[in-house]
Amino acid sequence: MLTRVTRHWLPFTQMDAFDAPARTFVRGQGNYLEDARGGRVFDAVSSIWTTIHGHGHPHIVEAIARQAATLDHATSLGATNPPADELAERLSALTGTDAAFFASDGASAVEAALKMALQYWQHAGEPGRTRFVRLAGSYHGDTAAAMSVSDIAVFKARFGAVTFATYAYDDAGEAIAGDDVAAVIVEPLVQAAAGIRLVAPERYEALRGMRPLLIVDEIATGFGRTGTMFAHEQLPVRPDLLCVGKGITGGALALSAVLARAPVFEAFLGAPAQLKQFFHGHSYAGNPIACAAALASLDLFERESTLAHVASLVPRLAARLERLRPHPRVRDARHAGLMAAVELDGPAAWDVANGLYDRGYFTRPIGDAIQFVPPLSTTPAEIDGFFEALEAELSA
Ligand SMILES: Cc1ncc(COP(=O)(O)O)c(C=O)c1O
Repeated sequence: MLTRVTRHWLPFTQMDAFDAPARTFVRGQGNYLEDARGGRVFDAVSSIWTTIHGHGHPHIVEAIARQAATLDHATSLGATNPPADELAERLSALTGTDAAFFASDGASAVEAALKMALQYWQHAGEPGRTRFVRLAGSYHGDTAAAMSVSDIAVFKARFGAVTFATYAYDDAGEAIAGDDVAAVIVEPLVQAAAGIRLVAPERYEALRGMRPLLIVDEIATGFGRTGTMFAHEQLPVRPDLLCVGKGITGGALALSAVLARAPVFEAFLGAPAQLKQFFHGHSYAGNPIACAAALASLDLFERESTLAHVASLVPRLAARLERLRPHPRVRDARHAGLMAAVELDGPAAWDVANGLYDRGYFTRPIGDAIQFVPPLSTTPAEIDGFFEALEAELSA
């Protein structure tokens, strides 16, 4: 018989040490979360890279309410709906892709993209292309195929029984040339789960014009976080498949998508008897409420000039990181757009994060790195406030 405060079993959390009263969020408003004890904290991780325009933005809340009252859900297996159609149209126009396949969480989009690549090569007459190449230090989610193309031991070491071998792109550049390679999957510019690790743009150059498909995973980096709408806009690559998730709904609801270019989409066309349709699907794919939230979020990018706002904040963030770099407890301070990390010298990151919480700033460390990935609606004063709190905490 469990005697715990909560039966909610949390991901990546030791429940034996979990202090439920201290970490129960009851309200989200703008860039702040409120906890059950009445504390109000700045959401300095955008609730793990999801929140874009702040919590509870009225335009997104209204869109969700309106759509819920009109059509809450209808299956996408053999049917479509207006918000999903419109979102597919707008995402295609934004990214220069031609078709949007919807899933739910980020990992389910990665799973779909990998399977799409496999089935694509079967239709394209090269069924031997069944292997995947990934970056060192990659992370693409926690489902079996997503784990297989991930490279962070602590996340996948226990699950070898359900994962398959993949090639590391960094270690063997020639791996791309193998005639058994179906796709290369990369996080563009930033490897978020590796600790907001930056990848040099030149590293992507070899991916241009290659025979395998290029899957670009923008689940963490998409929707403005790195300064451009999508991080790969800053790189010399053209994705065949683009995975988006997390911030797609502004951070309000689960939704993800694989955006495909015409040659991939068209390889799946044919007479019904040929059975060339994509053999993959999720119950809530193309959920109208989630799609309405995503459309509202895209509206806000235009109405609130979100990318211009981000551009105005980035120099401030860069200056704060620069100022912190000489601190004796800081090993590295880095950022791409509004995705930043301060790597500490020594394993005190959790103590620092807990201290920051008490000072009104909620973040979650990755290894020794304190991450600062605020909502794009953050203000210069909030950036200053976070770094002042961090400086005070590091000197405490
Ligand atoms: C680059 C990348 N891909 C995929 C995922 C998995 O997304 P989700 O947690 O929504 O399944 C993440 C999550 O952090 C991510 O950073």
